[in-house]
Amino acid sequence: MKILVIHGPNLNMLGKREPEHYGSVSMEAINQSLTELAQQFDVEIEAFQSNIEGEIVTKIQAALEQGKPYHGIILNAGAYTHTSIALRDAITCINVPVIEVHLSNIHAREEFRHKSLIAPVCKGQIAGFGAESYLLALKYFINQVISK
Ligand code: DQA
Repeated sequence: MKILVIHGPNLNMLGKREPEHYGSVSMEAINQSLTELAQQFDVEIEAFQSNIEGEIVTKIQAALEQGKPYHGIILNAGAYTHTSIALRDAITCINVPVIEVHLSNIHAREEFRHKSLIAPVCKGQIAGFGAESYLLALKYFINQVISK
């Protein structure tokens, strides 16, 4: 089983960026924690970051490649969460479950962050648990496989 983790714009700045909202953990450290948890269950993690909307669309489309390369996708779309119809349409194109994650609780912040354009086409949303949001999403996918 392989899980694709996608970090959207500005998430490569984690650790240096607004620690009051996003904590002090870097993106690389999040990827490392995900990989360590995944390895315990023989799961592979592929991590991808882009600041460019179209590149994220292309990466999501890769889930349609022959042989269904990903069991699931963990997606922190950053600010594109609130603006991108293109990302939403890409998620709708694929038959792979996507879990939307956010470090911060977007519903407790500015009003423009309350609306997620991708939430209605995702399996679910996990927000507000810092770096742990990603691990909770991974645990969901692992539990799905274990319970089969
Ligand atoms: C974020 C929340 C978004 O509103 C923001 O634009 C981000 C990070 C989060 O993880 O809390 O870039 O997705």
